[in-house]
Amino acid sequence: MFSTKIKWVKFADTVAELEEQLKKKPLKKVLIDGKSMLLLKEQGDFYLVKNKCPHQGIELTGAVCENGKIVCPWHHYAFDLKTGRGGGLHLENYPIEIRVDGCYAGIEYFSWF
Ligand code: FES
Repeated sequence: MFSTKIKWVKFADTVAELEEQLKKKPLKKVLIDGKSMLLLKEQGDFYLVKNKCPHQGIELTGAVCENGKIVCPWHHYAFDLKTGRGGGLHLENYPIEIRVDGCYAGIEYFSWF
């Protein structure tokens, strides 16, 4: 029988490093564990979302954030950053843990154990 587990992947050493990455662009394309994601900060919180709109599978690069949602630049579907929900679809998002030794992204995977 399999179950879903989360592995934590370090993607930055400090919060200051995340802030620095977002200084030039409000949404930063990052590759973590082979997955293309967008790092962003909205209303004081950091988020990692899949860089692929669930509507038509197009990259979300160029999206904007407003009122706790990320808005796809193509057809303007808006997805809640906390739940991923929007337009009857679900945008995959990844939890972030800020630890003493760095910033970690939670990546779900299936395990047989
Ligand atoms: S591709 Fe994002 S809303 Fe259509």
